[in-house]
Amino acid sequence: MSAVRSVKLYVPRDAAAMAVGAEALVRALEREAKGRALELTVVRNGSRGLLWLEPLVELEGPAGRIAYGPMTVGAVPGFLDSLLSGAAHPLCLGPTEQLAYFKSQERLTFARVGLTDPVSLTDYRAHGGYRGLARALSMDGAQIVAEVTDSGLRGRGGAAFPTGIKWKTVLGAQSAQKYIVCNADEGDSGTFSDRMLMEGDPYCLIEGMTIAGLAVGATRGYIYLRWEYPLAKVALEQAIAAATAANYLGRNILGSGKDFELEVRLGGGAYICGEETSLLESLEGKRGQVRFKPPLPALSGLFGQPTVINNVISFASVPIILDQGAAFYQHYGMGRSRGTLPIQLTGNIKHGGLIERAFGITVRELLYDYGGGSLSGRPIRAVQIGGPLGAYLPASQFDTPLDYEAFAAIKAMVGHGGIVVFDDTVDMAAQARYAMQFCAIESCGKCTPCRLGSTRGVEVIDRLVAGERPAAQEALLRDLCETMTVGSLCALGGMTAFPVLSALDHFAEDFLTPRAAPAGRAGH
Ligand SMILES: Cc1cc2nc3c(=O)[nH]c(=O)nc-3n(C[C@H](O)[C@H](O)[C@H](O)COP(=O)(O)O)c2cc1C
Ligand code: SF4
Repeated sequence: MSAVRSVKLYVPRDAAAMAVGAEALVRALEREAKGRALELTVVRNGSRGLLWLEPLVELEGPAGRIAYGPMTVGAVPGFLDSLLSGAAHPLCLGPTEQLAYFKSQERLTFARVGLTDPVSLTDYRAHGGYRGLARALSMDGAQIVAEVTDSGLRGRGGAAFPTGIKWKTVLGAQSAQKYIVCNADEGDSGTFSDRMLMEGDPYCLIEGMTIAGLAVGATRGYIYLRWEYPLAKVALEQAIAAATAANYLGRNILGSGKDFELEVRLGGGAYICGEETSLLESLEGKRGQVRFKPPLPALSGLFGQPTVINNVISFASVPIILDQGAAFYQHYGMGRSRGTLPIQLTGNIKHGGLIERAFGITVRELLYDYGGGSLSGRPIRAVQIGGPLGAYLPASQFDTPLDYEAFAAIKAMVGHGGIVVFDDTVDMAAQARYAMQFCAIESCGKCTPCRLGSTRGVEVIDRLVAGERPAAQEALLRDLCETMTVGSLCALGGMTAFPVLSALDHFAEDFLTPRAAPAGRAGH
């Protein structure tokens, strides 16, 4: 590498990078560059999603960006000296986009995340932004809905309901006021793709919601944002202001005669506020409690008006569908799971991060080809997929492809694509107890099977692991799980059986008294 006098560096503003010192790093880079009379430009980008390498600093070079990481404040002087002298640096990882973890991904929704300055509208447009909206403006609502339907996109928030069908219902509803609501509550354990997208490419979400507004005839939109995401709030509000100033939002968008206004609202801070009807209650200023369905939110949603409510990633998948066409998106995936999914790999894993791949990739490929095995170096014993209500998969199920139907066939769910990894020191009886306790703590209290069942469930598991008439306790636990599944009003109570029964079915030995622990494994 030849010596330089001016450099352009990328340092993420993403919360994951900030949590490990990105801000202090930028200050150190500026200070040390000044002392060396080095002309420095720092762009605060989104994260590339290789989280074990954060803060990942990228150097812009003639042939693309070169990655260095994880960068530390202490390494900054030597790093800058190496740039000035042209010498090699030990933290240099080579061209970012050639890193195996990154190169093999199929980034459609996350195409710009980490690449662009998240709040620069110019940068967004320079990288294909707003091409989907331009096409949508040349179509009528039914044509946009047909394009989304034909793409095969299913909701990425958890339930995998076809997005086009939901939009068609709202399009067909008669009302003077319709709404677009984005579910950005992202409450599932081990998930962070919504946050990364909002912090790293907020215009993509804004464009998707605007297209949804045009499709169904809605003129107002709300992003219901998890209150623990202050950096996403800043990025979204900066992007909304810039998009409004440039007339991509507001009245008479780009001279089309169509209006769409957008606001960010902070969530109530409870897991149940991510359930769509509770979310609407909360957005209306009430306590987040589940509504009876019907009526569907598509017909009677926010303030009783027809409402599209979708997850962040569902909306953020729409611009590329409109830009490249339904067939392009539909081409990715397997079976009825079309397109790509931003998978979040976390827990006891060496290389945690965000991996966007077409549906069909197996759990094993994600855990070992991307994740590199457990962080502890011990065997991976279980993974929980789909948040706190997702099933635990044993190693014998790791060859299951990421596909909604393949997961349903093994009584599991893909959900929002979060994978939490556990090694062989995990106590699965404790995990089952935790699932029941989580339900008890987070229950909105509206229906009996969930409100009371979850508390009784914790007690039954306690008696089971204490060895008190275990066969009777197990029968009672299974009966209780069935009651909660069929009798609960929403999926919080209705799906708590997934983690509990999968733990019981696949890891029965952990519920026995006394239980054997593998060498090095914590006792019960
Ligand atoms: C207890 C509970 C919590 C939920 N939390 C979220 C959440 O944080 N984010 C989300 O997008 N969907 C969440 N959902 C799913 C929503 O109810 C709804 O299905 C989703 O917003 C629809 O959008 P989609 O079709 O784009 O997935 C939750 C559901 C339940 C039952
Ligand atoms: S299942 Fe639980 S969270 Fe859902 S409505 Fe019933 S009490 Fe509320």
